[in-house]
Amino acid sequence: MPPFVLVSRSAEYETRIRALLGERLAVVPGEFLTFGPEAVMSRVPEQPRIALLGPVLNFEETKGLVDALTAKHPDLGLIVVREQRSDLEDWVDELALHAVLSPEATDDTTMALLDRLADWLIMNDRAGAHDFDAPLAPEINQMPLVDLADPDESTGDVEVEVDLDVDVQPEPEPAVPGWEFPPLDSGQAAEAIAVVAPKGGQGKTTLAINVAAGLAKVAPNSVVLIDSDLQFGDITAALDLAPEGTIVEATSDAAIDELILKTTLTHHKGDFFVVASARSPELGDSVSPESLARLIEQLRGIFRFVVIDTTPGLGEHSLVALEHVTDAIFVSNLGVPALRGLRTELEMLRTLGLLPANRRIVVNQTEKNVGLTVKDAERILGTPVDIEVPRSTAVLLASNKGVPLIDDDPRDPASRALRALVAQIAPEAADARAQKRRRSA
Ligand SMILES: Nc1ncnc2c1ncn2[C@@H]1O[C@H](COP(=O)(O)OP(=O)(O)O)[C@@H](O)[C@H]1O
Ligand SMILES: [Mg+2]
Repeated sequence: MPPFVLVSRSAEYETRIRALLGERLAVVPGEFLTFGPEAVMSRVPEQPRIALLGPVLNFEETKGLVDALTAKHPDLGLIVVREQRSDLEDWVDELALHAVLSPEATDDTTMALLDRLADWLIMNDRAGAHDFDAPLAPEINQMPLVDLADPDESTGDVEVEVDLDVDVQPEPEPAVPGWEFPPLDSGQAAEAIAVVAPKGGQGKTTLAINVAAGLAKVAPNSVVLIDSDLQFGDITAALDLAPEGTIVEATSDAAIDELILKTTLTHHKGDFFVVASARSPELGDSVSPESLARLIEQLRGIFRFVVIDTTPGLGEHSLVALEHVTDAIFVSNLGVPALRGLRTELEMLRTLGLLPANRRIVVNQTEKNVGLTVKDAERILGTPVDIEVPRSTAVLLASNKGVPLIDDDPRDPASRALRALVAQIAPEAADARAQKRRRSA
């Protein structure tokens, strides 16, 4: 188990501390604090000995973390990494800290402090004598152990002190808490697919519409598309539909009755149904996350495929939607900020246990010669890209006409990519097209 854990929002500081501590350090990105200290706690190794909190965490965040950490690990050594500021005394007074470390401190000072605190914890029976040992790496026998109590001597000859009697076998890395959806039982075979992006304008709506239209060819009238973008929902506009009802009525208590729920749906001539977005963001506010969850489950009992367009980011509604789907399509354009946002989002969802078992990564609006390639995107995301949808003027033309692109311009390259996405979700879709081609040949 790594004895040190760092929670910080500074990638630069993280790199520095990682270079100092190597395998002995576990890192939890400070971005997880958006979901409260518990989201961080689930990423902290089993028995940390010293926690470094900061830089770039505010007082409330630090306090929440200190409380959660000390409740679970009363013997933990706590260091806040923060500039000397006038309010620092309040921090020290209010938080049970062992030390405050400047992020600008040299490597020697930083290591000296960590060693001092480690020794103190061992002397006070808060940690075992070998808890801070490095995991046994092959080169450890050649590595002089530097006596950091006296940094000036660090370049001189130093005695090699490796106690090989101790069990210093590296423990396996704590597994990332994975979480898979339970298999659907036979009575409930509906597949629900959420289209998710950390930012707006990435192509969620474009994807959701075309996935619904594509699935409707496999399962006519057994597909429903929910516009759960409560702020900027625009599916009815993009499909040129006059809504019968909206998500506000579909999530009302009256709609618990299936017959009433069905009256709130708007039919599209491409053989699928739409739950229209609220008529205004204010009305959208009245839709609670719980009622959205209920709507998804209800529709899964009626339709074979439920496709959900979501609000950008990981608000409560998106999280609830992800809890109630079997598949998720994550979409980003080829820009570094969007890709990094998506990477963080994927990490958070994995931690929260909300990453659906079937997930697809789509990079949308790709263009040749814009600097980044899909390979670069995969490196930034840390995961393979499943589908690449090229930028195409046909997308805008189709939405101006109110027709799904895959119907408006089937030969367009973006249209082909979207059909490939549908075929990944429902392999029958590819079969159906092949059959049609054979018949018409
Ligand atoms: N592959 C693409 N090529 C060209 N324009 C696209 C493409 N995908 C989306 N767009 C356009 O980008 C804008 C944002 O797409 P949209 O699907 O509405 O994103 P979101 O729902 O994530 O906000 C729209 O104007 C849409 O027509
Ligand atoms: Mg949208």
